[in-house]
Amino acid sequence: MSEFDLFAVSTPGTSHIVEAELKGLGFASASRTVGGVELVGNLYDIYKLNLMSRTAGRILVRLATFQASGYRSLENKLKALDWGAWLNRSIPLKPHVACRKTRMIHSGRVGDILLSASGCTGADTQDETPQDLFVRIEDNRVTVSIDSTGDHLHMRGYRSHTGSAPIRENLAAACLLALGYDGSQTLLDPCTGSGTFAVEAALIATNTPPGSLRHFAFERFKGFDPGVWEKVKKVAQSQVKTTDIAPIYASDIDPDAVALAARSANRSGMGELVSVAVCDMAELEPPSESGILVANPPYGHRLSGSKEVYRSLRSMLKGGFSGWRWGVIELRKRGAGTLGLSEEESLRFMASGLPLVFLMGGLMGGLMGGMTGGDTER
Ligand SMILES: C[S@@+](CC[C@H](N)C(=O)[O-])C[C@H]1O[C@@H](n2cnc3c(N)ncnc32)[C@H](O)[C@@H]1O
Repeated sequence: MSEFDLFAVSTPGTSHIVEAELKGLGFASASRTVGGVELVGNLYDIYKLNLMSRTAGRILVRLATFQASGYRSLENKLKALDWGAWLNRSIPLKPHVACRKTRMIHSGRVGDILLSASGCTGADTQDETPQDLFVRIEDNRVTVSIDSTGDHLHMRGYRSHTGSAPIRENLAAACLLALGYDGSQTLLDPCTGSGTFAVEAALIATNTPPGSLRHFAFERFKGFDPGVWEKVKKVAQSQVKTTDIAPIYASDIDPDAVALAARSANRSGMGELVSVAVCDMAELEPPSESGILVANPPYGHRLSGSKEVYRSLRSMLKGGFSGWRWGVIELRKRGAGTLGLSEEESLRFMASGLPLVFLMGGLMGGLMGGMTGGDTER
């Protein structure tokens, strides 16, 4: 099978976790760079990455990289590309163009050239989901990539209605992996909302492919190979585990949130592994001597009563949960954070347009190989 240059797009601040995850999936070439992780793989790998990566946002296939001095040379080089295996000419194409430090600054014109060179029609209507093609021109160096994913990878398909300020599924998985969660530790999310942490934990614990409920853009590629796809799914299914999984607890003060969490867990097929309950976190007793507590409490001005919630979390972590590892999301700001506990590691990222930090403490040794160094600053 031919090999291709691939790019796994990551949430800013998490590329080191995506890199570690992809290496763990057997992609030795995975190497983080700005905005994501570069790696090499064949068709089987493209399908596998989409099905299996919990932390990446999208998998791009680099179709070509070349120099072009102007629009004419761009057109000629694009026309010469072998689009055959990738583009399906019966499906409209949506070009995504970014131009920097080049005379070819008219992204609309570059998009038109792309359409005519590829022989596809533009995506003018909302009737059909288009094929997404990315062209980046920087210093006259042109990179052409096709999206193999379609809807962002965080859209697993188990969360239909979301509660307040839900965390994206791939970010929740990145937080859990950064904490060293592997399914052997008791997990507790005391403000679970729609249950994202709990479901992602169950998917990790059982090694269930996070993409098993959805479809991908590569299924519409001209050269899509259903036999290879079946093999990828079969191998992944054979690696699912059902034993030796520590309890996963998800609670929330809001009964509607708990109903949502239960629904997410059931839709994901993880309903039997996740115990849900209505409970004010101030009343929570530790369900075991040690474990991992993960929380995305209400933060900032968006959700009321947030200071009180952080106070409860602080007393839990200093009290009955003192032997636990923990990871808590809070709003990133200068000076002392809302939680008021000193952390040992952190992840910094943007979510819903807000700068957030995932503080981790009580870590008791090297997690994810002692990973540090996300790609954004506090
Ligand atoms: C930001 S949301 C959590 C979102 C969740 N991570 C998700 O992905 O859907 C915060 C949650 O904290 C819950 N909450 C607020 N105060 C609480 C308390 N005292 N005890 C337990 N849960 C609380 C809210 O009901 C809300 O569902």
